Amino acid sequence: MHVSIIMDGNGRWAKARGKERVQGHLEGVGSVRACTEAAVEAGVKVLSLFAFSEENWGRPEKEVSTLMELMFKSMIDEFSTLMDNGVRFVVLGHREKLSKNLNIAIDDLMKKTEANATMTMIIFLSYSGKWDIMQATKRIAKEYAGREDEIDALTEADFSKYLVTAGYPDPDLIIRTSGEKRMSNYLLWQGAYSELLFDDTLWPDFRKEQFFSALKEYASRDRRYGKVK
Ligand code: FPP
Repeated sequence: MHVSIIMDGNGRWAKARGKERVQGHLEGVGSVRACTEAAVEAGVKVLSLFAFSEENWGRPEKEVSTLMELMFKSMIDEFSTLMDNGVRFVVLGHREKLSKNLNIAIDDLMKKTEANATMTMIIFLSYSGKWDIMQATKRIAKEYAGREDEIDALTEADFSKYLVTAGYPDPDLIIRTSGEKRMSNYLLWQGAYSELLFDDTLWPDFRKEQFFSALKEYASRDRRYGKVK
């Protein structure tokens, strides 16, 4: 149902070729396209990509602005591909931190692709798992002020409704590329029972073949959710 990817290794890909880090991000856009097509082909319903974390704001200003420009440009360039493939485009994260122009472009693309039903592509932008849990908690605290007696009855399902991912299924599979084995503050709540797959391929080299091979590996996993079969 839902495959999520922590796209990692763009910088190392570029460095290994004596190029600027930015070149790795540029090449990484090709992998985004390839994996989107592969996911549609495989019948995946939600493909989510960790494109920029809350922590990534701490990168050199030039790299941050290039990544934001790349996001902006990709949204314009890929519009027809999204429409042709029936892909609904969604951005989730701390949107207030993004520039006004980028937010306008995001809203525009989200609106234009709203009726596409083959697959939903979620781009996590300015996102972190702890931030999401915090913003949900703050909203609940405000909403329940004066009704504290109702708090004890809150369920996990109730809490999930306050996360930015409300309404989307939890990821079945989380892939991280480049050989790093960390969650890096990604979908901490939603990934509680996700299968994790760490692939050594650097993101710019992670294309259809690697995506399909990840799905094959997932198919061999035995998901028990803490229970016994
Ligand atoms: C991680 O590599 C990658 C990123 C922080 C950015 C990912 C962005 C893109 C692929 C381009 C734009 C995205 C979309 C959805 C169009 P890294 O820089 O951390 O690599 P390193 O660990 O080798 O330094």
